[in-house]
Amino acid sequence: MRSLRLLVWMVMVGWISAETVFPSPQRDEENEADYWYDLAKQEIEEALQKPKLTNIAKNVILFLGDGMGITVSTAGRILKGQKKGNSGEEEFLVWERFPNVGLMKTYNVDKQVSDSAGTATAFLCGAKANYYTLGVTGKVKYNDCKASLDDENRLTSIADWAQKAGKETGVVTTAQVTHATPAGLYAKTPSRKWQCDTKVMQFGEDAMGCKDIARQLVEDEPGRNLKVIMGGGRQEMGAQKIEPEKRKCVRTDGVDLVKQWMNDKAAQGKTSAYATTTRELKAINPEDTDYIMGLFGEIHVPYEVDRDKSLDGTPHIKDMVEVALKRLQKSDNGFFLLVEGGRIDHGMHYGMAKRALEELVAMDEAVQLALEMVNLEETLIVVTADHSHVMTINGYPDRGNNILGIVTETEDISDGLPFTTLMFTNGQGYNYSWNGKEVVRRNLTGVDTTDKDFESPAGVPTFDGSETHGGEDVAAFALGPMAHLFHRVHEQSYVAHVMGYAACIGPYQDCDRPVKVPHNIYDTIKDEVREGLKSGSSANNFSVISIFLIATVQITSFFQC
Ligand SMILES: *[C@@H]1O[C@H](CO)[C@@H](O)[C@H](O)[C@H]1NC(C)=O
Ligand SMILES: *[C@@H]1O[C@H](CO)[C@@H](O)[C@H](O)[C@H]1NC(C)=O
Ligand SMILES: *[C@@H]1O[C@H](CO)[C@@H](O)[C@H](O)[C@H]1NC(C)=O
Ligand SMILES: [Zn+2]
Repeated sequence: MRSLRLLVWMVMVGWISAETVFPSPQRDEENEADYWYDLAKQEIEEALQKPKLTNIAKNVILFLGDGMGITVSTAGRILKGQKKGNSGEEEFLVWERFPNVGLMKTYNVDKQVSDSAGTATAFLCGAKANYYTLGVTGKVKYNDCKASLDDENRLTSIADWAQKAGKETGVVTTAQVTHATPAGLYAKTPSRKWQCDTKVMQFGEDAMGCKDIARQLVEDEPGRNLKVIMGGGRQEMGAQKIEPEKRKCVRTDGVDLVKQWMNDKAAQGKTSAYATTTRELKAINPEDTDYIMGLFGEIHVPYEVDRDKSLDGTPHIKDMVEVALKRLQKSDNGFFLLVEGGRIDHGMHYGMAKRALEELVAMDEAVQLALEMVNLEETLIVVTADHSHVMTINGYPDRGNNILGIVTETEDISDGLPFTTLMFTNGQGYNYSWNGKEVVRRNLTGVDTTDKDFESPAGVPTFDGSETHGGEDVAAFALGPMAHLFHRVHEQSYVAHVMGYAACIGPYQDCDRPVKVPHNIYDTIKDEVREGLKSGSSANNFSVISIFLIATVQITSFFQC
């Protein structure tokens, strides 16, 4: 046990090298058939008792891992386990214990491999769209302002549907609040790039009448009615003057949209609060504030691996979710909350696996917190991704090999050089040179591949930050009322419809399903989850099965009664 503790400490201080092999405390058990038989029996039992909650979902929470394809997810799961000092492969992400899973086809109307705007339109507005467009149908091509202004081409989102039904709505992201995924909730635009007025103006006459995304958030419905808006994006919102080299989308109109937002709330006789640091966020009383805005980055919220964790720094995604839920739970008619782990995608685009995976593990903590805070009988929770990336998990690394490490078995590798488990088909980590005789790839011997800035090897070179998305399906995991509607391969636009159907809102507002499930078992479930969280946090527990497996198995069996 002492050596395990030492190992955890080493992981924490970053003394784990690329060659580290994590122990597998259950390995002896795994050598016995009984172990696998028992595990399978438990899973069959769980499947047989799978709940089918057919009541109305009062609340809906959508967790969106941007770029969280299956490969990233598997690697994130292993990292989560290894951070606990386990070998990692046997770990579960919180949502991997949800009883329902479906696969989503992610293509855009005009692209085999999609971007985050077209996909956000699909899973938030319920209809697929073109690449780079938001909140409009496939009739609107990228940059076509005129077509985007035609009412017939404009879509409503799950936020509109929820607000019309008297629910409160909110969005939390680690990217800019005007970035593609959050903007999918409230913006209608032929270009996701039009986050501030300057970008729209570059199109001159052709963009006449098109409003930038930041202004849509503050001035139009449903953005204006969002009770919680948290993420980055002070620059786009005109709330901070930025040094010239960081200027990406500075407002030409010079309007401070945060001030405008606060004035708008005051004019309605409502209270509002604005935070830019963890300290300011913690100072907000969510139960006593009508509207909350937090902008924790000039551009994006800092990566988890870079974040200043002091009170003067920026919050963890779960801190934002906590405040958001406390605020939205005040709503008598329920709520809709979108939470985006937005920077999984960014770490991937830079070919820096550690950055991406740590963002994923952070989102896992946020989902865990949400499970603890909400009534699982009346809340549909969906965890999904918009699209994948071109990372792969390759070679034959041993069990417990550092997921960010090097594969030393090079039997099948014709140049005999070491390589990393995580590699990209394209990206900035492309590095080949001529040795006078032949083209050789980067020699990774002695390189710390676990560094947050390590660029994983890539086959095709890209510009910095431009590793591309991947086109395979992504998974959607669901728990709560109507979660069982995720059951096969679906079009991604189906996600919005399941959420709408479950909550009886938008196109599904006429419904006569019960609001309550027959038995009120909520308190028992909540206690189970709480207990699970408590023991799960014990640093000394190296149990194979995450405490959430236990908690969720118990939840599902309780649901049966
Ligand atoms: C590319 O590989 C060479 C030789 O293996 C190494 O010296 C160099 O630092 C690498 N370049 C980058 C950008 O990693
Ligand atoms: C790779 O680097 C290591 C350490 O510098 C060296 O021993 C080895 O010979 C190199 N391999 C090749 C093929 O250059
Ligand atoms: C650790 O896990 C084991 C096996 O699942 C469990 O029996 C035990 O109660 C846990 N211990 C703590 C401190 O949570
Ligand atoms: Zn992306």
